Order: sequence, then C-alpha cells, then structure tokens
Amino acid sequence: MIITSEIISLKHLLTAESLSDQEVMGLIQRAQEFKQGAPSTLSQEQYFVSNLFFENSTRTHKSFEVAEKKLGIDVIEFDTKTSSVSKGESLYDTVLTMSAIGAHACVIRHWEEDYYNELIDSKTITTSIINGGDGSGNHPTQCLLDLLTIYEEYGDFENLDIAICGDLSHSRVANSNMKMLKRLGANLYFCGPTEWYNKKYEAYGTYLPIDDVVNQVDVMMMLRVQHERHDEDSIFVKEDYHKAYGLTVARAKEMKEGAIIMHPAPVNRDVELADELVESYQSRITQQMSNGVFMRMAILEAILHGKA
Ligand code: CP
Repeated sequence: MIITSEIISLKHLLTAESLSDQEVMGLIQRAQEFKQGAPSTLSQEQYFVSNLFFENSTRTHKSFEVAEKKLGIDVIEFDTKTSSVSKGESLYDTVLTMSAIGAHACVIRHWEEDYYNELIDSKTITTSIINGGDGSGNHPTQCLLDLLTIYEEYGDFENLDIAICGDLSHSRVANSNMKMLKRLGANLYFCGPTEWYNKKYEAYGTYLPIDDVVNQVDVMMMLRVQHERHDEDSIFVKEDYHKAYGLTVARAKEMKEGAIIMHPAPVNRDVELADELVESYQSRITQQMSNGVFMRMAILEAILHGKA
C-alpha cells in the first residue's frame, strides 16, 4: 500500500468506510509524522472543539483531549450532568448551540446508532461532526488507530490473517474494523458465541472456533463483552466464557511467532483476555492507546483543514 503525502481535508468523520483508501493511508502517514514530533499544519487561527460524550469513555475522550491540546485547539468543556442536557435538551439542540457559539468541530459519542444523520442534514448546524462511537454502529477513530497499529507492525494489510473474536454483534469496533480490513486486503476470521454472530459477517470473513484460528493468524483482535448492551446475560458465566471463547494463556502460547494481540479496551480481564496477556510481549494494547492520540491529531487536523 503506497502512502501519499497529500494533506487530507474532511468535512465530517462519521464512519471509517466513508474514507477512501488514499484518505486512510494519508491519515496513517500523518499520525506517524505526529508520533515522530512533526508540527501541525493548521493555521494560527483560533480553533474551538467540543467533546460531547453521552456515553462513558476513558480512551476516546481523553486521547481526543490530549490531541486537541497538542494541536493548540481550545476545548469547550461539556458535561451531560452540568449542561442543559439535564433539563431535557436534545442532542440536536446541544450541537446547534455548539455550532452557533463557534465550535469548529464536535466529537460526539452517543448510544443511538446513526445519531449523526439529523445533524449533518441540518441547514443551520455548520460544525463538523467527528463520530466517537454511535451505539453498536461505528467507531471510526478506533478503527483508524487500530489500522495504524497494524500498519506499524506489518507495513501492509494485504493478505494479513486477522481474527476478530467475541461480542461481534454489539461491537462498533468490530463493525468498523471488519469493513475496512477486508477492503484493505486482509483475510478475516470471526470467533465467539453463535448468539453474537450474524450471517451478514460472511461478506467479510469466515466463522470458526477460536482453537482453529489461534495458531494461524497474524492478529488476534479480542473484543470486550459489552454487558451494558445485552438484554439479559443468560448465556454468560465469566469462567465458562473465558474457557470457550477467550484468549487464554494456553491459547496465546499457540500463536504464531510474531503474531500480536489487540483489544480496543477497556478489557474485561480473564473474560475475553487473560489478565497476564494484557501487558505481555505479544500485546499491542498500550500501543493502541498511545496511537489513539496521534491518529486523533491527524483526524482533527484533516477536519479543521476542511473548515479553512
Ligand atoms: N476503546 C474505546 O473506545 O475506549 P473508551 O470507551 O474508553 O473510549
């Protein structure tokens, strides 16, 4: 995959799949440049960004905040508990307000899938929308930082063998990653309980037991069991899940030499991933977190270029 040096300019970032391959590779290149200490190409203009998190977050929220500060952006503080959201203000009206008071972009995490459609359809809202996760829909910035992490490891996506394992149907990370990794040429495998598998994933990869793929793939991408999105947890017993579907220490020993473990985090330790594997030599989880800052700097720069 050839990386170009064109400056990327985006109006919004709603899904990863809306990006062209060239834009994806351009963002990966910019993130790598930021990681090596490159300065921003943004003008000296004052930029305002607001982070609107209607669902809890540690990594996405705080790494956006670090990225914004590194780029010299003024962050408009927002908290659902102290804002007029507590008086019944709708998402639309919150974003309308942010746009009216001068926010150039809003980073939004919301429980409702596709929440962004009414915002981008508005004739009055002019602020750019960066999707920080919509329900079980999409998580484009996580997808891009995952792509950066895989690219750093292997230098390409073509013909990489990647297993995405666990709570597939509730995972916006899985949804974004399967589409992009398939498009970029990776061979995908899906593992996990049949209850959380959907036949629509056949378009992207092959569904197999974890023991059939763990010694074959370059990347074991483990997913968090999303208890908060389950109607009831009848199928769930922590120890049983770990034994049947988790990446156990014994399974990790079967992985190919040089193969890596990824997880978007937070990790349910000893559920989808053994506690001692989280910071093991095979794990790239902390690298994913660090890469989040640099990828989000690249995304913010591209969005704010789009406002120029
Ligand atoms: N990976 C991820 O989105 O983590 P947070 O929910 O903490 O942002």
